[in-house]
Amino acid sequence: MTSRVDAPLKVTGEARYGADHTLPGMVYGYLVLSTIAHGRIEAMDVTAAKSAPGVIGVYSPFDPLALRRPTSLIGETWVPLQDNEVAYYGQPIGFVVAETFEQARDAAMLVEVTYHALPAVTSLQDGLATAEDAPPTFDGSPSTQEFLAPGVESIDDALAASPVVVEATYSTAPQNHAAMEPHSAVAVWNDGVLTVHSGNQGSNLQAAELAGALEIDPEQVRAVNPFVGGAFGGKGRTSAPAFLAAAAARALGRPVKAALTREQVFTATAGRAATVQKLALGADEQGTLIALRHDSLCSTAMDRSFVEPTSHGTAREYYATQNLALSQKIVPLNLPPTTFMRAPGEAPGSFALESAMDELAVALRMDPIELRLRNNSTAPIGKNLQWSSKHLDECFRVGAARFGWAQRTPHGRVDGDWLVGMGMASALFPALRFPATVEIVLRADGTAVVSTSGTDPGTGLLTVLSLIGGESLDIPPDRVTPRLGDSAYPSGGMSAGSTATASAGTAIMIAAAQLIDDLLALASAPGAPFDGVEVSYAEGCVVGDGRSMPFGELLRAVDRESLSATGSSAPGEELTKHSFSSFGAQFCEVRVHRWTREVRVSRLLGVFDAGRIINEKAARGQISGGMIWGVSAALHENLEFEANGRPANGDFAGYLIPVNADIPEIDAEFLRYPDTLHNAVGARGIGEIGIVGVAAAIANAVYNATGIRVRHIPITIEDLLVD
Ligand code: MOS
Repeated sequence: MTSRVDAPLKVTGEARYGADHTLPGMVYGYLVLSTIAHGRIEAMDVTAAKSAPGVIGVYSPFDPLALRRPTSLIGETWVPLQDNEVAYYGQPIGFVVAETFEQARDAAMLVEVTYHALPAVTSLQDGLATAEDAPPTFDGSPSTQEFLAPGVESIDDALAASPVVVEATYSTAPQNHAAMEPHSAVAVWNDGVLTVHSGNQGSNLQAAELAGALEIDPEQVRAVNPFVGGAFGGKGRTSAPAFLAAAAARALGRPVKAALTREQVFTATAGRAATVQKLALGADEQGTLIALRHDSLCSTAMDRSFVEPTSHGTAREYYATQNLALSQKIVPLNLPPTTFMRAPGEAPGSFALESAMDELAVALRMDPIELRLRNNSTAPIGKNLQWSSKHLDECFRVGAARFGWAQRTPHGRVDGDWLVGMGMASALFPALRFPATVEIVLRADGTAVVSTSGTDPGTGLLTVLSLIGGESLDIPPDRVTPRLGDSAYPSGGMSAGSTATASAGTAIMIAAAQLIDDLLALASAPGAPFDGVEVSYAEGCVVGDGRSMPFGELLRAVDRESLSATGSSAPGEELTKHSFSSFGAQFCEVRVHRWTREVRVSRLLGVFDAGRIINEKAARGQISGGMIWGVSAALHENLEFEANGRPANGDFAGYLIPVNADIPEIDAEFLRYPDTLHNAVGARGIGEIGIVGVAAAIANAVYNATGIRVRHIPITIEDLLVD
């Protein structure tokens, strides 16, 4: 149990986030956002804004900042002000810079925009008629896939031949990341080098995007970001304020700070897509799946920049079935863009699939755990590589015992005015990692520094660097100083896709091994304390000739301040041998009030098979955060849009997220099977799997309590009203 190394800095306010930087001569930028959902900007009258007090720059599509769309490993990223097209309400269309924040904001209100409005499609329902096939997924899989048993002509035939069939349509609401830290940036140029302080999920990625956007060399950009106030996928791409601040700082020759207001975050950044998913499950009388069809639609921006891959995220991976068909379509809308959000694909996808499995269990009069055990898969469908390590059955068993699942009845129970029900769901999230390079420095004072350009957006990665660094160097973790969030450090992957521990951790082990070799060579070199002696390394010391010398002392003896080495690691051969995923079982108890119909989640338990757990305390924090978001998705969150494309609840008054009173004690348990086939550290990542399955477990519990099957989230009181 290790407390986070950055916790004291955060709770005392010492941690400086992007917008906390204030520089001499700094000026302030405020974004102007569109007030129509679709059309062209015919004119922008900036006369009043330009002559307002303190204003030093007003930028618009008619007087733009020099920016172009950068392409990076996550594709092309949109930059503001480059044309006069409006594709959604709340799109950045102008930037006003003034001596103070208030002056910039006031002047922004004086900008007069003349639009040529065009018809806008702002509801998924209205857009269904224009749904298109999604482009291929990241791994190149086509949007439509079918796997049929020999002799089976079509998935419909397989369904028709199934003794028990469940068919239903499920939908999930759009969401905003709602990270505590709004997207912001402070940008300053010195001798042609840009330094940007702006929340991100990988500083070298942000530096690359800014370099591309500004048409300069990546070496001319330094992205600095040791602290990030939440990201969840929403700070993967560089934000509009960061592009604008960087370009305006160059144009004006002064540092520029720009931050979105909370309301602006809801439209000027990307969020989670809405989804509609049709499921059909066919099984034999014993519950063995014969056919599974998962057809998904998701909303996307008009530029079709992101697909929420619900079918691809679930259908091939969760269960063994003899016949499978999946499809993914997109519905382009005049709404703010969509992007990665904690468990993209799996989070909304698992709501649909795991609700449908519950419906199948009801149809079969079978325990829902038993149904899942009967359809356990040993490999993803269509991929002949077995899971490296899978203990989902143990997650069910451990969870059922701990949760008291045996007490569940098919129709819940009554406790006074409360209808009490239990539900469960499977969780799955693929294990991935990215290439990463880490530098370790041994210092003459006996400490070590581990640095890499990745970030810790609240995940606990900083502490993980200390722990794996200490373990690899065989010294206590408090002698290891971790450093993250600076593109000047070796390129260290991203805090995305639940990959950071596996990516950076593996590189640390390689760097440490190299560094120990170098240290031993240094120790036994001519004139050194172990000249000509056979040496080894243990507990931070060079050992040989019956003597032992701490590395700090040795460095001092040879007159060195430090010794450093880098290590790099990337996914490789293992990908041709196994499939890799984390697994879990989510359990939930709800209480539905007989008269008011309010739903209270009274107990939550998640049991996870996620490889080695490096830091139990931070791991529980990560998993609990994910599970709480699952409650939020099930019962609270819904970014609603008016017909004109304006968010109806785009602030923290109207956009519901749970508070402490909504959340019970959360119980998270880990099985601990290190997955060293995936990476040398044995950790598979825990950032995302916590959210997966929770919404289904809640909906399934609501059904158990009330007999009402709600096939959309969030579930509201209205859904549970009875005559
Ligand atoms: Mo995330 S959705 O892993 O950036």
